[in-house]
Amino acid sequence: MAFPRPLVDGFGRRITYVRLSVTDRCDFRCIYCMPLDQRFVPRPEVLTLEEIATIAEAFIARGVRRIRLTGGEPLVRRGILDLAQAIGRHVGRGLDELTLTTNGSQLARFAEGLYRAGIRRVNVSLDSRDPERFARITRRGRLAPVLEGIAAARAAGLRVKINMVALKGLNEDEILPMMHWCAAHGFDLTFIETMPLGWVEEDRTDRYLPLTEVRRLLEAHVTLVPTAERTGGPARYWRVAETGQRLGFITPLTHNFCETCNRVRVTATGTLYMCLGQEDRVELRDLLRQKGPAALDAALDRAMALKPRGHDFVIERRGAPPAVKRSMSVTGG
Ligand code: 5AD
Ligand code: SF4
Repeated sequence: MAFPRPLVDGFGRRITYVRLSVTDRCDFRCIYCMPLDQRFVPRPEVLTLEEIATIAEAFIARGVRRIRLTGGEPLVRRGILDLAQAIGRHVGRGLDELTLTTNGSQLARFAEGLYRAGIRRVNVSLDSRDPERFARITRRGRLAPVLEGIAAARAAGLRVKINMVALKGLNEDEILPMMHWCAAHGFDLTFIETMPLGWVEEDRTDRYLPLTEVRRLLEAHVTLVPTAERTGGPARYWRVAETGQRLGFITPLTHNFCETCNRVRVTATGTLYMCLGQEDRVELRDLLRQKGPAALDAALDRAMALKPRGHDFVIERRGAPPAVKRSMSVTGG
């Protein structure tokens, strides 16, 4: 299908990937993500499922090829399967792929429905496979249902990618075991550096483990070979020479990837953020409610002109405020 009017920003980057946060709520309170007493937005401010689908369609009409449903935790949003079906209808008709990022707590219940909706790949956050540590990191999470969810996803035919945030003093010693576990189960694995997004109780500097360090830890046991492979997201890939396993590294701090950014994010309240780490935004909700879907198209053009060159994350300085006040759970991971 040819798209006469693709979305191209002021730096010539083509936007083909949108992450839609369907709720800012989450049943976990991961220490690096949100405070225990996180306040969530009132319901009337949240987009309806129909509004989210309409926004998705406006993007698809402008050449967006991939959509990721995210949160907060997307599977705590009531009606999530209806939304997945509504957007999933476009897979193969403009949309190449619909994916989902989840903490896995409800995945056992939803895996088959997600597959039926047209989803083929899910990212599951898993920072530890030790039940006590898992509880300590997520504060409200239990490991067992997440592992069941991952197994159910695989049984339903979904490809699973594990996202592991590298946390100093918390999960360094699980990096190698996680790699082996993922290899044994056929899961992809991506490591992520903690990003200074939103206020949390701890100073993130204390938990920051640069992925250069993660690579060093792994290289004591295996040979890592850099590859030029890209999958349309921010990850860079290395291959484990001994096994062929592919490992992803998302390194916003040690290696900025903004120059090839192809994505934008929509919050659960319909704010279109042009960058995870900047304030530039366009409000879509009231526009849609007052002027109807036709108004979205021009709003997307306005947004393109606003997309900044990149984020300005720094984490080396103790006590520094977060780069932006909103947490990842608001903007959409
Ligand atoms: N820094 C890095 N990763 C984060 N995530 C959530 N908040 C942060 C943060 N501040 C992770 C989640 C999930 C992915 C979408 O992003 O653990 O795996
Ligand atoms: Fe929830 Fe994900 Fe944030 Fe953890 S990182 S609190 S699972 S949104």
